[in-house]
Amino acid sequence: MRKPIIIGNWKMYKTTSETIDFFKKVDHACADLKIDAGVAVPFVNLALAKQHSHNLIIAAQNCHYEDLGAFTGEISVNMLKDLKLTHVIVGHSERRQMFNETNETVNLKSKKILAKGMIPIICCGETIEQYEKNQTQQVVESQIEKALQGINLEDVKTIVIAYEPIWAIGTGKTMIAEIAQNVCAIIRAKIENLYDEAVANVVRIQYGGSVKPENIKKLLAQPDIDGALVGGASLEPKAFLLLVK
Ligand code: PGA
Repeated sequence: MRKPIIIGNWKMYKTTSETIDFFKKVDHACADLKIDAGVAVPFVNLALAKQHSHNLIIAAQNCHYEDLGAFTGEISVNMLKDLKLTHVIVGHSERRQMFNETNETVNLKSKKILAKGMIPIICCGETIEQYEKNQTQQVVESQIEKALQGINLEDVKTIVIAYEPIWAIGTGKTMIAEIAQNVCAIIRAKIENLYDEAVANVVRIQYGGSVKPENIKKLLAQPDIDGALVGGASLEPKAFLLLVK
């Protein structure tokens, strides 16, 4: 059985005081969760979020793949590990579309995160044009194959994949649960093809894209959907608690 994992992606939202307020309202109520739940907060508030959270995973939204160096504005995995963080989102479509993230950097970052004993949450997903041209399978298979290149069998078992159709992100247009299931099954089959069935059976695959308290149950009821990556709906304490509970 794969343990569900629900991660809120806060993107560029919440100041320091808003972050503290969120954890005051939410953390205690998450003490008895049977799933893995957490939030990916902006870099400046990671240390503080870690301090105020006892029951939630605190994730970073990005990292650099080098250990250190002259990379103004970048954050290394060592810095994240030193904060005792465990998870890092890699390859979110907003980073691919606006900040030159490529399949190659997603691969380099994922390998670095794994080398430090942490868990990458690797995002993939098609654009609306690709979806309409029936290219979803081809796009996500290629993204997964390139992201996982050179990652060994033991490491790959620990990763989380987030399937996020780009046209569903922040638009209120959630993918129909059965169609999201089909794509997540395609991703699992691709992992089986690259590794083996035992590996494919343990890798957790999230769906993301306009997940809300009203639609999460149906999505998570699908056999190959093991959790969710949630943007907008994860910002409100009440909605977040409804999602994880
Ligand atoms: P959304 O964002 O839930 O607001 O659609 C999801 C994401 O970008 O991970």
